[in-house]
Amino acid sequence: MAIKKVGVVGCGLMGSGITEVCARAGYATRVREVNQQLLDRGLANLQASLGRAVERGRATAEERDQALARIQGTLNLEDFADCDLVIEAVIENLEEKRRVFTVLDKVCPSSSILASNTSTMCIMEMASVTQRPDKVIGIHFFNPAPIMKLVEVIRTIASSDEAVAQGRAFAESLGKTVVMAKDTPGFIVNRLLVPYLNDAIRLLEAETATKEDIDKAMELGLNHPMGPFRLLDLVGLDTHYYICLSQFDEFREPRFAPPPLLKRMVVAGRLGRKAGKGFYDYK
Ligand SMILES: NC(=O)c1ccc[n+]([C@@H]2O[C@H](COP(=O)([O-])OP(=O)(O)OC[C@H]3O[C@@H](n4cnc5c(N)ncnc54)[C@H](O)[C@@H]3O)[C@@H](O)[C@H]2O)c1
Repeated sequence: MAIKKVGVVGCGLMGSGITEVCARAGYATRVREVNQQLLDRGLANLQASLGRAVERGRATAEERDQALARIQGTLNLEDFADCDLVIEAVIENLEEKRRVFTVLDKVCPSSSILASNTSTMCIMEMASVTQRPDKVIGIHFFNPAPIMKLVEVIRTIASSDEAVAQGRAFAESLGKTVVMAKDTPGFIVNRLLVPYLNDAIRLLEAETATKEDIDKAMELGLNHPMGPFRLLDLVGLDTHYYICLSQFDEFREPRFAPPPLLKRMVVAGRLGRKAGKGFYDYK
């Protein structure tokens, strides 16, 4: 089955980026948010991102306009009835994701592939609420989706070879490089990244060094494009916190447990760049 129409559920940080990438690659793309205000905000972020692509010579004004013409925002999952592939990119909350998959399974043709962009959660938990577990896979983009080259394609114990191959071919059609991973917490990148980010927060809690010096050390000492605190602010501290809870729940290993400071920052609303304040100030 050729994928022509794509649905994206959630138009936050990742959903808006994934929508942009799909539309730029030529796919008619529908994106759903929970209310008009959030949809407008997500689409405005998408437009700004496309604008930056034009400014920096990564797209022409014509390509930007063509991409925008392929995008349709909606508040109804029922509008995904003609989508060949739907990518779920809602908040990192299993109950919300399972609710979305339950509705998508009813609304979408039985041939459609349903994918999750979760950073760490068990894809099989989403597949199990559908009547098509063989067509449920993970397609995990990286932030910011229009810039980052990598996509992890995740196979559950129930995914069919065909669905995995289609997911892989789709991600490659977006110009991404694909790595394959099994449905295990954090897959490849977040399995390794999450303990590192938690250790950075623990260094700060122990007053071993300032956040600025920890960031500088990792940028200049290891040539990382950004240190752990800049990266946490980019990811979103709430998202990182939910990822930790989910990984700790599965592994019960202290290195995945959220450090106390992380929870306190989330409760205080210091969620990172998207909130204007995280470890650093963005106002
Ligand atoms: N932030 C990252 O760096 C990153 C990277 C890769 C993957 N992810 C994963 O992508 C997913 C989304 O993360 P994000 O950073 O975009 O979060 P976000 O908080 O920026 O956006 C999530 C959006 O989902 C919306 N939403 C919630 N329930 C919905 C529903 N039922 N239907 C439609 N929209 C709904 C929210 O209103 C919100 O706008 C998570 O699973 C996360 O783990 C995040």
